[in-house]
Amino acid sequence: MSVKPGKVKRHGFSVRFVHWTVTLSTFVLLFTGFGQMPIYRRYMVDRLPGLAWSSDFAVTLKLHYLAAAVLIFAVAYHITYHLIRRDFAILPRRGDLKESYLIIKAMLTGSKEPPSGKYLAEQRLAYAFIGANLLVLIITGIFKVLKNLPGVDFSPAFRYWITAFHNLATVLLLFGLLAHFAAFIFKDNRQLLPGMFTGYVDLDYVRRRHRRWYEELRRQGKIPASPCEEVDAASTRKVRRKSV
Ligand code: HEM
Ligand code: HEM
Repeated sequence: MSVKPGKVKRHGFSVRFVHWTVTLSTFVLLFTGFGQMPIYRRYMVDRLPGLAWSSDFAVTLKLHYLAAAVLIFAVAYHITYHLIRRDFAILPRRGDLKESYLIIKAMLTGSKEPPSGKYLAEQRLAYAFIGANLLVLIITGIFKVLKNLPGVDFSPAFRYWITAFHNLATVLLLFGLLAHFAAFIFKDNRQLLPGMFTGYVDLDYVRRRHRRWYEELRRQGKIPASPCEEVDAASTRKVRRKSV
């Protein structure tokens, strides 16, 4: 593991690659998905410079397909990568709802947060919520692609439900993304931003807020003891020796 003074490696290249590929493809899917409902002509988005194509169904559909392929690749890679590494740190656990409530309460009132592992309980829930909606969009989207193929004929009721779920998951995803961005209004959460760009976050932040992860990294020898902890440990040893 590469070490930088005062920093902790939080995300490797694979995780960052998946995050930004999912982000880019999701933004394109949202824009082109809404483009299939004729709103860009109505609200004159297609008059904006460079956006004339936005009300052309053939173009938005092709872009939707292209971005869908990119999203499916990123999701498949993500699942395979974490299964092979048996790394499930971001999956929700029992008690996460209550712990999220305590963390948000602590952020609003300035009281003490419960100690966290690599991810905060609310991040595990956010992951599951955004991930579940993306999976619904992919599964229903595949049926919508099949429906568009010549010779494939689904019943009107099936088509109705597939479209209803595709649209519902779109709206829920938008809520999830708004919450994801709103999380960064809180200063403490913004400490995580550099991690998604450079891979590294501040050691002090990890020691203070992700105490259980910090202790795990210490046990594995991945981060050195902080100077004040070394002083603490040394003085404890001295006191012990004197008392023997
Ligand atoms: C972030 C993910 C996605 C979002 C936000 C999204 C959003 C939308 C929206 C708003 C529509 C227009 C309303 C409708 O016809 O239901 C749509 C249509 C469609 N989407 Fe998606 N979608 C996503 C992912 C996918 C994926 C992964 C696929 C394919 C595997 C897909 C395939 C389609 C198809 C085929 C249509 C209908 C085009 C037509 O009218 O024939 N979508 N999507
Ligand atoms: C379509 C867009 C996006 C999707 C679907 C998405 C999804 C996710 C998910 C599922 C997680 C893991 C759970 C969590 O920590 O909340 C995550 C983490 C993160 N996201 Fe996003 N994200 C998107 C856009 C963005 C953008 C635009 C930014 C910042 C400019 C951002 C910054 C971050 C950061 C910093 C983390 C990692 C937090 C950590 O280290 O624990 N995301 N994202």
